[in-house]
Amino acid sequence: MATQLGPEMEQDLANRGYSRRQMAKVAALLGAAAATVRVGSVEAQQAAKAVAGAVRIGANECWTGPFPVAAEAAYKLVNEGNRYEPDNEHEKLFRAVASVEGVPAERIVAWPGSSDPLSRVAVAYASPSRGIVTANPTYEAIWRTGEWLGAKVTKVPLTSDYRHDVKAMLAADPNAGVYYICSPNNPTGTVTPIADIEWLANNKPKDAILVIDEAYIHWVDGPNAAKLAATRDDVLILRTFSKLFGMAGMRLGLTFASPALMEKMMRYDGGQVSGMLPMTAVACGTASVTQADLIKQRRAEMVAAREKAVSHLKAKGIKVIPGSQANMFMVDWGKPAKGMMDALLAQNVQIGRSWPIWPNVSRISVGSMSEMEAFNAAIDKVWTA
Ligand SMILES: Cc1ncc(COP(=O)(O)O)c(C=O)c1O
Repeated sequence: MATQLGPEMEQDLANRGYSRRQMAKVAALLGAAAATVRVGSVEAQQAAKAVAGAVRIGANECWTGPFPVAAEAAYKLVNEGNRYEPDNEHEKLFRAVASVEGVPAERIVAWPGSSDPLSRVAVAYASPSRGIVTANPTYEAIWRTGEWLGAKVTKVPLTSDYRHDVKAMLAADPNAGVYYICSPNNPTGTVTPIADIEWLANNKPKDAILVIDEAYIHWVDGPNAAKLAATRDDVLILRTFSKLFGMAGMRLGLTFASPALMEKMMRYDGGQVSGMLPMTAVACGTASVTQADLIKQRRAEMVAAREKAVSHLKAKGIKVIPGSQANMFMVDWGKPAKGMMDALLAQNVQIGRSWPIWPNVSRISVGSMSEMEAFNAAIDKVWTA
């Protein structure tokens, strides 16, 4: 269902090189915003194919739910579900996040996950005349939005140590509208140093937006890029509660950016989508972000389970892409990944997908220790070099 764009937006799109036909597509996209939210992320689509009873290590979900203290906060809000917003839940979330991240509350917006703002930033800042630049392989959601919009999407291979090659990214399209960095990167789990990210922020066109997707940042014991969004007006940071906080099905995400940057992303629906969050998710998120000790503990659990699987694979002579700091890693089977995916599924272990640039390489999400032990046992059964 298409949406009326209004004269201001039509003028904006015309200035940015959109044809009438492309404007009709944008209208259809915006009309389908609710459907986008329903369908969810690429990972949600993968998770939806889950096989009952299988070990589910294919969609980068957390192996467990919210911290108990956060689940309690959500239950409390269930009982107050008659109110749209019982007691300034949004404000409490923004205050908690601001205190942890050092980002001013007026630069924080909450969303039902981070997929919606990720596609919005492409709609608002890329166009047929201003492309999108990403790494390859990376989280592909923005490729789809860009391709659908008719914006040129340039995919730049990672460096030999699996960082984003920021200089090559700029050289590949020096006049793009959006540069997308995913750190830790989905699917490699590797981190791009803040200095590289800052270099791209300082050298990209002034009116281009640098998007830094930090969906997996809580798994990393190291710095994040939040201060860039606190101090610059051309950087957007995406966060989600779908990963370490175990809230993928509850739907909560954040953007950190200047109000002016966000305003252009909101123009299309007056902020209605982002304004309509379940208070259960908001309260659960508020109670989660300040739990420094629990975050550290869950991270350590994940690292131990990841190490269990990686060392098992290496001992069998199977190549693992090094350097993951997140709840995923990639395995180079040296033969088509599809065959290994099917063989493991026959053992009731559901691993992740591969990317076209690396057809022999599968992404494995890190589950609980016992799930990774089941993965190791399945490998023992199916692996032949
Ligand atoms: C890098 C990255 N960004 C964004 C998302 C979107 O997730 P959500 O909409 O659940 O926040 C995902 C999901 O897996 C992801 O891997």
